[in-house]
Amino acid sequence: MNNYSNRPKIVVTGGAGFIGSHTVVELWNVGYEPIIIDNFSNSQPWILDRIKQLTTNDIQCYDLDCANQVAMEDLFSQLGQVIGIIHFAAYKSVSESVAHPEKYYANNMGSLQTIINIKEKFNIPDLVFSSSATVYGVADHLPVTEDCDLKPASSPYGETKQLGEQLIKDQLETGAIILRYFNPIGAHPSGLLGELPSGVPQNLVPFITQTAIGDRDHLQVFGTDYETKDGTCVRDYIHVVDLAKAHVAALSRLLSTRRTDVYNIGTGKGNSVREVIETFEKVSGEQLPVKYVDRRPGDIESIYADCGKAALALHWNATYTLEDALMHAWQWEQSLKIEKSNAA
Ligand code: WQD
Repeated sequence: MNNYSNRPKIVVTGGAGFIGSHTVVELWNVGYEPIIIDNFSNSQPWILDRIKQLTTNDIQCYDLDCANQVAMEDLFSQLGQVIGIIHFAAYKSVSESVAHPEKYYANNMGSLQTIINIKEKFNIPDLVFSSSATVYGVADHLPVTEDCDLKPASSPYGETKQLGEQLIKDQLETGAIILRYFNPIGAHPSGLLGELPSGVPQNLVPFITQTAIGDRDHLQVFGTDYETKDGTCVRDYIHVVDLAKAHVAALSRLLSTRRTDVYNIGTGKGNSVREVIETFEKVSGEQLPVKYVDRRPGDIESIYADCGKAALALHWNATYTLEDALMHAWQWEQSLKIEKSNAA
């Protein structure tokens, strides 16, 4: 059924989630054997069938809580030689983290510390960790470079990313790459994988696609009086497949140099909320009902990445456009609608 035996094993925690599932497919495509650990707290088991369709293989998946050190040690003692871990598994809702900080610290810090312990105990050479542009707060300069100061976090979620980076730097002098994601959007071009927000989406693009499909009355644009080109906030929106490929590039880098390091992963381009809406309307042919409302507390005006370091060291650049990403996100939303109506 498969040709696993010679493939180097990479454990992907949170491998059934949005970025994790796309990364599993890219790892398989370049010759690794990805092994998923996911407790499905914010993902769906049927995503594994989609991964199977894309890889034409059964990818091993273990339903485990990554913060459970005993269970994790038991699993790793059975897996044989694993050459790398990509650690996505974490809670990611900013607002939920404000309401339940204890849940975020316990899960996000507990699972990362367990992963570091496992890496050391089982001599796993490489670790890639998901961090976020949120660590920069209001950036010292734009485009933001990796050496910009980190600012006090504006939420417990952001705090777990900063602390996570620190945990790695304090304990792993070698063998770890931290990727600071900008705003991941889009979906797999096949239409088979994409984002599955739980409840009302907080992020812009899933809110846009759910509004266009009719699940939401209208889109609220938070703030039109920012000092930007059109008054709305500016972000760096990165296609999830490009982001997935950045993880593969980070693993290659770790194979050639063991240095622990940090990289921005974005497009290098800032787009305003209005530009995202206009581009979505153009690629989808849908008119979005929009209401302009007050600023959302905690939002920063503008941020976009300088990706020069990743280009140079990881030989990685984003290749998809904003149009591509919004088109793929829209195709995904439409495919979910068809799926739901078939199931009904
Ligand atoms: C983008 C822009 C909103 C929704 C957050 C986290 C970050 C990362 C990604 C990861 C902003 C505006 C949004 C809406 C709107 N988290 N907006 N109407 O805030 O840059 O980053 O998500 O898992 O850590 O902080 O992304 O998509 O929420 O917002 O006008 O309904 O869209 O105000 O300007 P953000 P976002």
